[in-house]
Amino acid sequence: MAKQTIVVFGATGKQGGSVVKTILADPKTAAKYHVKAVTRDTTKESAQKLKELGAEVVSADLNAPETLAPVLEGAYGVFSVTNFLEKMDAAPEITQGKAVADAAKAAGVQHLVWSSLLNVTKLTNGKLTNVHHFDSKAQVEEYIREIGVPATFFLAGYFMSNLPGMSISEQTGWTLNLPTSKNAPIPLFDAEDDTGKFVKGIFENREKLLGQRVLGATAYYTPTQLIEELKEVYPKTSASAAYNELPGDVYKGILGSFGLPESFQQEMLENHQLFDVAGYFGGEKLDASHSIVDEPLTTWKEYIGKSPVFTAVKN
Ligand SMILES: NC(=O)c1ccc[n+]([C@@H]2O[C@H](COP(=O)([O-])OP(=O)(O)OC[C@H]3O[C@@H](n4cnc5c(N)ncnc54)[C@H](OP(=O)(O)O)[C@@H]3O)[C@@H](O)[C@H]2O)c1
Repeated sequence: MAKQTIVVFGATGKQGGSVVKTILADPKTAAKYHVKAVTRDTTKESAQKLKELGAEVVSADLNAPETLAPVLEGAYGVFSVTNFLEKMDAAPEITQGKAVADAAKAAGVQHLVWSSLLNVTKLTNGKLTNVHHFDSKAQVEEYIREIGVPATFFLAGYFMSNLPGMSISEQTGWTLNLPTSKNAPIPLFDAEDDTGKFVKGIFENREKLLGQRVLGATAYYTPTQLIEELKEVYPKTSASAAYNELPGDVYKGILGSFGLPESFQQEMLENHQLFDVAGYFGGEKLDASHSIVDEPLTTWKEYIGKSPVFTAVKN
């Protein structure tokens, strides 16, 4: 039987790259699917690596809708993610997402997997109105439902890679600093290794998951738990590690010191307040999402065991 084509946007990035790698590393899905990895620059090293894994690397630009139809021609499935951070603006992200949805519909795609997030303005009844990169993705989800593309919505959890570096490092004395309460449930997610495990499960369970949301996270961790586990993995280095709940203005000041604009500082502050106010996934459990995953998900202990921020330091 001829292979079905799955087109992956963001293939040179964390989420899309994981989708390409996971589908091609599993003999069952590698035999079933032909993977087209999309990038704006097919010559870059990360794109060439995808070719070595067996993907067909193709060029398209989400800002140029006319480039989407050729890569989607004959496609069975699509994974699409947009990069809010590139412009730090919701409007272009919504335009890009809608362009993919329109192109998928026109091409007769049978399964679109959209990397979505919840509408925080609605979820918090207008308490947090500045988490634009969530609201924008939710608006695209709404549009996809409206125009009737067969789709499943993958909601990426809080990336583990957000933490080592700006929030916790040797410079912070291994104290974790976030504007979040010590018992806030954070759905942690290893985007680079685990996005593909969820998305492979989505493609393999199309009938069951059309119109559904899948929550991408290993587990809910509290900041207190993150520190306890850090101490278990690095007992010497992190002996004095602690959790420090940052006041909002202090957190914003730190982001400002990295040159980030005030609007984005506020956005990220509210993003972290979401854990306490309504829950990143609105309080939903992860069990149903885990039931479609057939490979182990990365734990926080495993992640910090491999993260260079930690492993570079002698313990
Ligand atoms: N950090 C978190 O905790 C978190 C949690 C949930 C969701 N998210 C969301 O994750 C998204 C980013 O995903 P990621 O981390 O996987 O991305 P990433 O690693 O930063 O990579 C971005 C990808 O997007 C592609 N891309 C960007 N602009 C493009 C365009 N105009 N046309 C075609 N491709 C384009 C890039 O491809 P080329 O450069 O090769 O063209 C690259 O593959 C953001 O929107 C963010 O809101 C983040």
